[in-house]
Amino acid sequence: MNTNQFGKKGWTPDRIKDLNDKTFVVTGTTSGTGFEATKILLSKGAKVVMLNRNPKKAENTIKTLKQELGNHINVLNINMDLAEQSSVKKAAKEVIKTIPKIDALICNAAIAQVPQQMLTVDGWESQMGTNYYGNWTLQALLFPLIEKSKGRIVTVGSMGYDMGIKTIKFDDLNWDKDYTPNNAYSQSKLAQIMTIYELQDRLKESGKSDIKAYACHPGSSRTNLINTSGSFMMKFIFNLMKLSPLTQSAEKGAYPQLMCATEPNLDQNGFFGPTGRSNWTGPVGEHNLEPHAKDKAVAKRLWELSEKETGIKWNI
Ligand SMILES: NC(=O)c1ccc[n+]([C@@H]2O[C@H](COP(=O)([O-])OP(=O)(O)OC[C@H]3O[C@@H](n4cnc5c(N)ncnc54)[C@H](OP(=O)(O)O)[C@@H]3O)[C@@H](O)[C@H]2O)c1
Repeated sequence: MNTNQFGKKGWTPDRIKDLNDKTFVVTGTTSGTGFEATKILLSKGAKVVMLNRNPKKAENTIKTLKQELGNHINVLNINMDLAEQSSVKKAAKEVIKTIPKIDALICNAAIAQVPQQMLTVDGWESQMGTNYYGNWTLQALLFPLIEKSKGRIVTVGSMGYDMGIKTIKFDDLNWDKDYTPNNAYSQSKLAQIMTIYELQDRLKESGKSDIKAYACHPGSSRTNLINTSGSFMMKFIFNLMKLSPLTQSAEKGAYPQLMCATEPNLDQNGFFGPTGRSNWTGPVGEHNLEPHAKDKAVAKRLWELSEKETGIKWNI
Protein backbone atom coordinates (compact mmCIF):
# COMPACT_ATOMS: atom_id res chain seq x y z
CA MET A 1 0.00 0.00 0.00
CA ASN A 2 1.26 3.53 -0.82
CA THR A 3 2.10 5.72 2.15
CA ASN A 4 -0.27 8.62 2.57
CA GLN A 5 1.46 11.92 1.73
CA PHE A 6 -0.54 13.56 4.53
CA GLY A 7 0.56 11.10 7.22
CA LYS A 8 -1.30 8.36 9.09
CA LYS A 9 -4.51 10.37 9.61
CA GLY A 10 -4.61 11.36 5.96
CA TRP A 11 -5.81 14.74 4.73
CA THR A 12 -8.04 16.67 7.12
CA PRO A 13 -9.44 20.22 6.99
CA ASP A 14 -6.87 21.29 9.62
CA ARG A 15 -4.62 21.78 6.61
CA ILE A 16 -6.85 24.54 5.24
CA LYS A 17 -5.54 27.95 6.17
CA ASP A 18 -7.47 31.18 5.98
CA LEU A 19 -9.85 31.29 2.98
CA ASN A 20 -10.89 34.93 3.41
CA ASP A 21 -10.14 36.01 -0.14
CA LYS A 22 -11.38 32.78 -1.81
CA THR A 23 -14.62 32.08 -3.66
CA PHE A 24 -16.02 28.60 -4.19
CA VAL A 25 -18.98 27.44 -6.26
CA VAL A 26 -20.45 24.20 -4.91
CA THR A 27 -23.31 22.19 -6.41
CA GLY A 28 -25.80 20.19 -4.34
CA THR A 29 -25.31 21.69 -0.89
CA THR A 30 -28.74 21.01 0.60
CA SER A 31 -27.53 17.74 2.11
CA GLY A 32 -24.69 15.24 2.40
CA THR A 33 -21.10 15.96 1.45
CA GLY A 34 -21.96 19.22 -0.35
CA PHE A 35 -23.50 20.64 2.80
CA GLU A 36 -20.54 19.59 4.94
CA ALA A 37 -18.00 20.93 2.42
CA THR A 38 -19.82 24.26 2.29
CA LYS A 39 -19.90 24.49 6.08
CA ILE A 40 -16.15 23.88 6.36
CA LEU A 41 -15.30 26.36 3.58
CA LEU A 42 -17.46 29.03 5.24
CA SER A 43 -15.97 28.30 8.65
CA LYS A 44 -12.54 29.09 7.16
CA GLY A 45 -13.77 32.48 5.90
CA ALA A 46 -14.50 31.64 2.24
CA LYS A 47 -17.35 32.98 0.14
CA VAL A 48 -19.54 30.14 -1.17
CA VAL A 49 -22.01 30.30 -4.03
CA MET A 50 -24.27 27.28 -3.75
CA LEU A 51 -26.07 25.88 -6.82
CA ASN A 52 -29.21 23.96 -5.85
CA ARG A 53 -32.41 22.77 -7.50
CA ASN A 54 -34.78 23.33 -4.59
CA PRO A 55 -35.05 27.01 -3.52
CA LYS A 56 -36.89 26.22 -0.28
CA LYS A 57 -34.25 23.67 0.78
CA ALA A 58 -31.52 26.15 -0.19
CA GLU A 59 -33.13 28.84 1.98
CA ASN A 60 -33.27 26.42 4.91
CA THR A 61 -29.65 25.44 4.29
CA ILE A 62 -28.56 29.08 4.57
CA LYS A 63 -30.60 29.40 7.78
CA THR A 64 -28.95 26.31 9.26
CA LEU A 65 -25.46 27.46 8.23
CA LYS A 66 -26.06 30.87 9.83
CA GLN A 67 -27.37 29.25 13.01
CA GLU A 68 -24.27 27.06 13.20
CA LEU A 69 -21.60 29.53 12.04
CA GLY A 70 -23.05 33.00 12.65
CA ASN A 71 -24.72 35.65 10.50
CA HIS A 72 -21.43 37.00 9.17
CA ILE A 73 -20.88 34.08 6.75
CA ASN A 74 -20.63 34.91 3.07
CA VAL A 75 -23.03 32.53 1.33
CA LEU A 76 -25.68 32.76 -1.35
CA ASN A 77 -27.72 30.40 -3.50
CA ILE A 78 -28.38 30.38 -7.22
CA ASN A 79 -31.07 28.03 -8.47
CA MET A 80 -29.92 25.30 -10.82
CA ASP A 81 -31.42 21.99 -11.83
CA LEU A 82 -28.49 19.96 -13.13
CA ALA A 83 -30.96 17.70 -14.95
CA GLU A 84 -32.04 20.51 -17.31
CA GLN A 85 -29.57 22.09 -19.70
CA SER A 86 -31.58 25.33 -19.88
CA SER A 87 -31.42 25.66 -16.09
CA VAL A 88 -27.67 24.97 -16.03
CA LYS A 89 -27.08 27.61 -18.71
CA LYS A 90 -29.16 30.16 -16.82
CA ALA A 91 -27.34 29.42 -13.56
CA ALA A 92 -23.91 29.70 -15.20
CA LYS A 93 -24.85 33.14 -16.58
CA GLU A 94 -26.02 34.21 -13.14
CA VAL A 95 -22.80 33.00 -11.51
CA ILE A 96 -20.72 34.99 -14.02
CA LYS A 97 -22.85 38.08 -13.34
CA THR A 98 -22.62 37.65 -9.56
CA ILE A 99 -18.98 36.88 -8.76
CA PRO A 100 -15.73 38.16 -10.28
CA LYS A 101 -13.75 34.94 -9.69
CA ILE A 102 -13.97 31.24 -8.92
CA ASP A 103 -11.11 29.67 -6.98
CA ALA A 104 -12.76 26.26 -7.28
CA LEU A 105 -15.92 24.87 -8.80
CA ILE A 106 -16.89 21.76 -6.84
CA CYS A 107 -19.20 19.53 -8.90
CA ASN A 108 -20.74 17.56 -6.07
CA ALA A 109 -24.47 17.21 -6.89
CA ALA A 110 -25.74 13.91 -8.29
CA ILE A 111 -28.51 11.36 -8.27
CA ALA A 112 -27.92 7.62 -7.94
CA GLN A 113 -29.42 4.20 -8.49
CA VAL A 114 -32.58 5.41 -10.23
CA PRO A 115 -34.74 2.24 -10.27
CA GLN A 116 -36.10 2.54 -13.83
CA GLN A 117 -34.85 4.08 -17.02
CA MET A 118 -36.05 7.68 -17.05
CA LEU A 119 -35.16 10.41 -19.51
CA THR A 120 -34.36 14.04 -18.73
CA VAL A 121 -36.21 16.81 -20.57
CA ASP A 122 -33.22 16.94 -22.92
CA GLY A 123 -33.68 13.26 -23.75
CA TRP A 124 -30.82 11.59 -21.87
CA GLU A 125 -30.98 8.74 -19.35
CA SER A 126 -31.50 10.53 -16.03
CA GLN A 127 -28.16 9.76 -14.35
CA MET A 128 -26.14 10.44 -17.51
CA GLY A 129 -28.15 13.62 -18.13
CA THR A 130 -27.84 14.93 -14.57
CA ASN A 131 -24.47 13.69 -13.35
CA TYR A 132 -22.62 13.85 -16.62
CA TYR A 133 -24.13 16.23 -19.19
CA GLY A 134 -25.27 18.67 -16.50
CA ASN A 135 -21.71 18.93 -15.19
CA TRP A 136 -20.24 19.03 -18.68
CA THR A 137 -22.21 22.16 -19.52
CA LEU A 138 -21.71 23.82 -16.14
CA GLN A 139 -17.96 23.28 -16.23
CA ALA A 140 -17.59 24.40 -19.85
CA LEU A 141 -19.64 27.58 -19.33
CA LEU A 142 -17.81 28.55 -16.13
CA PHE A 143 -14.41 27.64 -17.57
CA PRO A 144 -13.55 31.18 -18.80
CA LEU A 145 -14.11 32.61 -15.31
CA ILE A 146 -12.19 29.73 -13.70
CA GLU A 147 -9.37 30.29 -16.17
CA LYS A 148 -9.29 34.02 -15.43
CA SER A 149 -9.12 33.16 -11.71
CA LYS A 150 -6.40 30.49 -12.17
CA GLY A 151 -8.87 28.26 -10.39
CA ARG A 152 -9.75 24.60 -10.17
CA ILE A 153 -12.48 22.24 -11.26
CA VAL A 154 -13.23 19.42 -8.83
CA THR A 155 -15.41 16.50 -9.84
CA VAL A 156 -16.93 14.30 -7.17
CA GLY A 157 -16.95 10.85 -8.72
CA SER A 158 -17.55 7.46 -7.17
CA MET A 159 -15.89 4.08 -6.76
CA GLY A 160 -18.82 3.10 -9.00
CA TYR A 161 -16.49 4.05 -11.87
CA ASP A 162 -15.04 0.57 -11.33
CA MET A 163 -18.39 -1.23 -11.32
CA GLY A 164 -20.86 -1.94 -14.10
CA ILE A 165 -19.48 -2.24 -17.62
CA LYS A 166 -16.38 -0.11 -16.88
CA THR A 167 -16.62 1.76 -20.15
CA ILE A 168 -19.03 4.00 -22.05
CA LYS A 169 -21.89 2.26 -23.85
CA PHE A 170 -21.60 4.40 -26.96
CA ASP A 171 -24.09 2.31 -28.98
CA ASP A 172 -26.80 2.62 -26.30
CA LEU A 173 -25.99 5.56 -24.06
CA ASN A 174 -29.55 5.77 -22.75
CA TRP A 175 -29.67 2.10 -21.78
CA ASP A 176 -32.71 1.34 -23.96
CA LYS A 177 -31.48 -2.23 -23.69
CA ASP A 178 -30.46 -3.88 -20.40
CA TYR A 179 -31.05 -0.90 -18.08
CA THR A 180 -29.91 -1.52 -14.53
CA PRO A 181 -29.69 1.26 -11.92
CA ASN A 182 -26.12 0.41 -10.99
CA ASN A 183 -24.79 0.12 -14.55
CA ALA A 184 -26.33 3.46 -15.54
CA TYR A 185 -25.11 5.23 -12.37
CA SER A 186 -21.62 3.73 -12.65
CA GLN A 187 -21.33 4.81 -16.28
CA SER A 188 -22.31 8.38 -15.41
CA LYS A 189 -19.67 8.57 -12.66
CA LEU A 190 -17.02 6.98 -14.89
CA ALA A 191 -17.86 9.54 -17.59
CA GLN A 192 -17.43 12.37 -15.05
CA ILE A 193 -13.99 11.12 -14.01
CA MET A 194 -12.78 10.39 -17.56
CA THR A 195 -13.63 13.92 -18.60
CA ILE A 196 -11.44 15.37 -15.85
CA TYR A 197 -8.36 13.49 -17.07
CA GLU A 198 -9.18 14.33 -20.69
CA LEU A 199 -9.55 17.98 -19.67
CA GLN A 200 -6.11 17.84 -18.04
CA ASP A 201 -4.63 16.59 -21.33
CA ARG A 202 -6.35 19.35 -23.29
CA LEU A 203 -5.20 22.03 -20.85
CA LYS A 204 -1.66 20.72 -21.09
CA GLU A 205 -1.76 20.72 -24.90
CA SER A 206 -2.84 24.39 -24.84
CA GLY A 207 -0.14 25.28 -22.32
CA LYS A 208 -2.74 26.26 -19.72
CA SER A 209 -0.99 25.05 -16.61
CA ASP A 210 -2.62 27.63 -14.30
CA ILE A 211 -5.98 25.82 -14.23
CA LYS A 212 -6.22 22.54 -12.38
CA ALA A 213 -8.77 19.72 -12.63
CA TYR A 214 -9.23 17.01 -10.02
CA ALA A 215 -11.24 13.82 -9.60
CA CYS A 216 -12.16 12.46 -6.19
CA HIS A 217 -14.90 10.52 -4.39
CA PRO A 218 -16.40 10.39 -0.87
CA GLY A 219 -16.13 6.64 -0.26
CA SER A 220 -19.21 5.26 1.43
CA SER A 221 -20.76 8.13 3.33
CA ARG A 222 -23.96 8.47 5.32
CA THR A 223 -25.90 10.95 3.15
CA ASN A 224 -29.30 11.21 1.46
CA LEU A 225 -28.07 9.94 -1.89
CA ILE A 226 -29.91 6.62 -2.03
CA ASN A 227 -32.93 7.94 -0.11
CA THR A 228 -33.40 10.66 -2.74
CA SER A 229 -33.33 8.59 -5.91
CA GLY A 230 -32.87 4.87 -5.14
CA SER A 231 -35.38 2.01 -5.08
CA PHE A 232 -37.05 0.78 -1.89
CA MET A 233 -34.65 -2.18 -1.77
CA MET A 234 -31.54 -0.02 -2.25
CA LYS A 235 -32.77 2.32 0.49
CA PHE A 236 -33.24 -0.65 2.81
CA ILE A 237 -29.75 -2.04 2.07
CA PHE A 238 -28.01 1.34 2.33
CA ASN A 239 -29.81 2.26 5.55
CA LEU A 240 -28.61 -1.04 7.05
CA MET A 241 -25.08 -0.34 5.83
CA LYS A 242 -25.25 3.06 7.52
CA LEU A 243 -25.37 1.25 10.86
CA SER A 244 -22.12 -0.60 10.13
CA PRO A 245 -18.46 0.49 10.11
CA LEU A 246 -18.56 0.12 6.31
CA THR A 247 -19.71 3.74 6.13
CA GLN A 248 -18.42 7.06 7.41
CA SER A 249 -19.94 10.43 8.26
CA ALA A 250 -20.97 12.86 5.54
CA GLU A 251 -18.40 15.27 6.99
CA LYS A 252 -15.55 12.82 6.33
CA GLY A 253 -17.04 12.20 2.90
CA ALA A 254 -16.54 15.90 2.20
CA TYR A 255 -12.77 15.82 2.86
CA PRO A 256 -11.66 14.59 -0.60
CA GLN A 257 -13.49 17.39 -2.43
CA LEU A 258 -12.21 19.95 0.08
CA MET A 259 -8.68 18.66 -0.37
CA CYS A 260 -8.92 18.88 -4.15
CA ALA A 261 -10.36 22.40 -3.94
CA THR A 262 -7.81 23.84 -1.49
CA GLU A 263 -4.62 21.80 -1.08
CA PRO A 264 -1.67 23.50 -2.81
CA ASN A 265 0.51 21.41 -5.15
CA LEU A 266 -1.80 18.39 -5.27
CA ASP A 267 -0.92 16.10 -8.17
CA GLN A 268 -3.78 16.26 -10.70
CA ASN A 269 -3.02 12.80 -12.08
CA GLY A 270 -4.20 11.13 -8.90
CA PHE A 271 -7.60 9.90 -7.80
CA PHE A 272 -8.49 10.96 -4.26
CA GLY A 273 -10.70 9.46 -1.58
CA PRO A 274 -10.64 7.31 1.55
CA THR A 275 -7.70 4.91 1.50
CA GLY A 276 -9.07 2.19 3.82
CA ARG A 277 -10.59 -1.12 2.77
CA SER A 278 -12.29 -0.95 -0.67
CA ASN A 279 -11.78 2.83 -0.45
CA TRP A 280 -15.09 3.14 1.42
CA THR A 281 -13.69 4.68 4.61
CA GLY A 282 -10.32 5.58 6.09
CA PRO A 283 -7.68 8.29 5.90
CA VAL A 284 -8.09 10.53 2.86
CA GLY A 285 -5.40 10.58 0.22
CA GLU A 286 -4.45 9.46 -3.25
CA HIS A 287 -5.20 5.86 -4.20
CA ASN A 288 -5.23 3.47 -7.10
CA LEU A 289 -7.25 4.28 -10.22
CA GLU A 290 -7.94 1.45 -12.64
CA PRO A 291 -6.60 2.07 -16.18
CA HIS A 292 -10.04 2.02 -17.87
CA ALA A 293 -10.72 5.46 -16.29
CA LYS A 294 -7.87 6.89 -18.36
CA ASP A 295 -8.63 5.06 -21.61
CA LYS A 296 -7.64 7.82 -24.01
CA ALA A 297 -9.63 6.57 -27.02
CA VAL A 298 -12.84 6.31 -24.98
CA ALA A 299 -12.29 9.67 -23.27
CA LYS A 300 -11.67 11.47 -26.57
CA ARG A 301 -14.76 9.90 -28.15
CA LEU A 302 -16.84 10.84 -25.11
CA TRP A 303 -15.58 14.44 -25.24
CA GLU A 304 -16.46 14.76 -28.93
CA LEU A 305 -19.84 13.15 -28.37
CA SER A 306 -20.57 15.48 -25.46
CA GLU A 307 -19.86 18.54 -27.62
CA LYS A 308 -22.29 17.20 -30.21
CA GLU A 309 -25.00 16.16 -27.75
CA THR A 310 -24.99 19.40 -25.73
CA GLY A 311 -23.91 21.82 -28.43
CA ILE A 312 -21.43 23.21 -25.88
CA LYS A 313 -17.73 23.47 -26.67
CA TRP A 314 -15.00 24.34 -24.17
CA ASN A 315 -13.08 27.49 -24.95
CA ILE A 316 -9.67 25.94 -24.25
N1 LIG B 1 -22.82 8.92 -0.24
C1 LIG B 1 -22.00 8.04 -0.80
O1 LIG B 1 -21.69 7.01 -0.22
C2 LIG B 1 -21.44 8.30 -2.17
C3 LIG B 1 -20.67 7.32 -2.77
C4 LIG B 1 -20.07 7.56 -3.99
C5 LIG B 1 -20.24 8.79 -4.59
N2 LIG B 1 -21.02 9.74 -4.02
C6 LIG B 1 -21.15 11.04 -4.70
O2 LIG B 1 -21.08 12.10 -3.75
C7 LIG B 1 -21.75 13.25 -4.25
C8 LIG B 1 -22.63 13.85 -3.16
O3 LIG B 1 -23.67 12.97 -2.87
P1 LIG B 1 -24.22 12.74 -1.38
O4 LIG B 1 -23.87 11.35 -1.05
O5 LIG B 1 -23.82 13.83 -0.49
O6 LIG B 1 -25.80 12.75 -1.67
P2 LIG B 1 -27.00 13.68 -1.17
O7 LIG B 1 -27.01 13.77 0.31
O8 LIG B 1 -28.21 13.13 -1.84
O9 LIG B 1 -26.65 15.09 -1.80
C9 LIG B 1 -26.77 15.30 -3.18
C10 LIG B 1 -26.98 16.76 -3.46
O10 LIG B 1 -27.15 16.91 -4.89
C11 LIG B 1 -28.35 17.61 -5.12
N3 LIG B 1 -28.96 17.27 -6.42
C12 LIG B 1 -29.47 16.10 -6.82
N4 LIG B 1 -29.98 16.22 -8.06
C13 LIG B 1 -29.80 17.51 -8.44
C14 LIG B 1 -30.13 18.26 -9.59
N5 LIG B 1 -30.80 17.72 -10.60
N6 LIG B 1 -29.81 19.57 -9.62
C15 LIG B 1 -29.16 20.16 -8.58
N7 LIG B 1 -28.83 19.50 -7.46
C16 LIG B 1 -29.15 18.20 -7.38
C17 LIG B 1 -29.26 17.23 -3.97
O11 LIG B 1 -30.33 18.16 -3.89
P3 LIG B 1 -31.76 17.82 -3.19
O12 LIG B 1 -31.56 18.07 -1.72
O13 LIG B 1 -32.67 18.79 -3.85
O14 LIG B 1 -32.06 16.38 -3.48
C18 LIG B 1 -28.27 17.31 -2.82
O15 LIG B 1 -28.07 18.65 -2.43
C19 LIG B 1 -22.48 12.77 -5.50
O16 LIG B 1 -21.73 13.17 -6.64
C20 LIG B 1 -22.48 11.26 -5.40
O17 LIG B 1 -22.50 10.62 -6.66
C21 LIG B 1 -21.64 9.53 -2.82
